[in-house]
Amino acid sequence: MIKKQTKKKKPKWTLLPGVEPTEMDLRIMEEEARGKVVPRRSMIKSAEQIAGIRKAGVLNTAVLDYVAEHIREGMTTNEVDRMVYEFTTEHGGIPAPLNYFGFPKSCCTSVNDVVCHGIPNDWEVLEEGDIVNVDCTTIVNGFYADASRMFVIGKASPEDQKLVDVAWECLKVGEAACNKPYVFVGDMAHEITKHAHKNGFTVVRDYCGHGVGCEFHEEPDIEHYGKPGTGMLLVPGMTFTIEPMINMGDYDLCEDEEDETGWVVLTEDGLPSAQWEHTYLMTENGVEILSH
Ligand code: MF3
Ligand code: CO
Ligand code: CO
Repeated sequence: MIKKQTKKKKPKWTLLPGVEPTEMDLRIMEEEARGKVVPRRSMIKSAEQIAGIRKAGVLNTAVLDYVAEHIREGMTTNEVDRMVYEFTTEHGGIPAPLNYFGFPKSCCTSVNDVVCHGIPNDWEVLEEGDIVNVDCTTIVNGFYADASRMFVIGKASPEDQKLVDVAWECLKVGEAACNKPYVFVGDMAHEITKHAHKNGFTVVRDYCGHGVGCEFHEEPDIEHYGKPGTGMLLVPGMTFTIEPMINMGDYDLCEDEEDETGWVVLTEDGLPSAQWEHTYLMTENGVEILSH
C-alpha cells in the first residue's frame, strides 16, 4: 500500500485521433462531464499487458500458497522472507520489494500492531497467538502482481481472530461493490468502511491500494474510506489492488522509532491491525482476481 497522495492532478480522458469513439469512450466522457474523476488512457492495459500481469499473478499467488503451507510457530520473519525470495526466484520471478526505495527484504511481514511494511528480521520469532500479514509482490517479465494474506500462528484470541475475519470480509465487501464496471472507488470504500464500523473496527486512511501491473505502484490511489461517487471511475482494462487495513482501535498511525529505514508503520494505540490484499482486473463483467 502506498501513502495517500495529497495533491492530485485530475486526469483527462482523450479520444484516439481518427477513430470513432467507443461505448467506453462515451461512458467515460459522460462521467467526466459530470465532474467525476476519470482515468487517463494510459491506465487502461492492453491485452498483452493483461496477459503479462495475469502470469505475474499466478506466481504471486503460488508464493503465498507456499508461505501458507510452511509458516509456523517458532519461525523468524527472516525465515519467511527467505522462503519468499527462494520460491519466487526459483520460479523465474523477482520479489518487487527487494531494494524498492531502500526496502531491504523480499516481502513485508507485519505482526500484530504493525499495520504494514513490517521488515523481516532475525530476532522476531512468530509466537502462538500472533497475527501476521505477509505481503508479496512478484515481477514476471517486467509485470507486477501484489497480494497479501493474514496468517494466525496457532490460535488467536477471539478478538484478534474477529479482526482477521472482518478484514477479510471488508476486502470481499469491497470486491462485491466494484463487481461491475463504471463504479467509483468511493462506492467500494464506503461499503468497506460500513462493514468495519458495524463490527466496531476502523479503516486506515493514510495508506491506500493502488494501480499495479506495469509498475509496483501506479495511479490511481484506491482509498478504502470515502463517499459513494467520489474517487476514480473504474473501467474495463484497469488493474489495481484493494487492500483495506482494519484496526481494532483507532485508525491513527505512527512510525517505529527503532526502524532506521522509515518503512515500518504501526498503530498509534498499539492495538492490532489486519489486512488482506488482492490484485484485480476490471472487465466488462466486473472484477477478475489476478492474484490472492
Ligand atoms: N506490497 C505493498 C503494497 O501492497 C508495498 C510494499 S512496498 C515495500 O503496496 F517496499 F515495502 F515492499
Ligand atoms: Co499493494
Ligand atoms: Co502488497
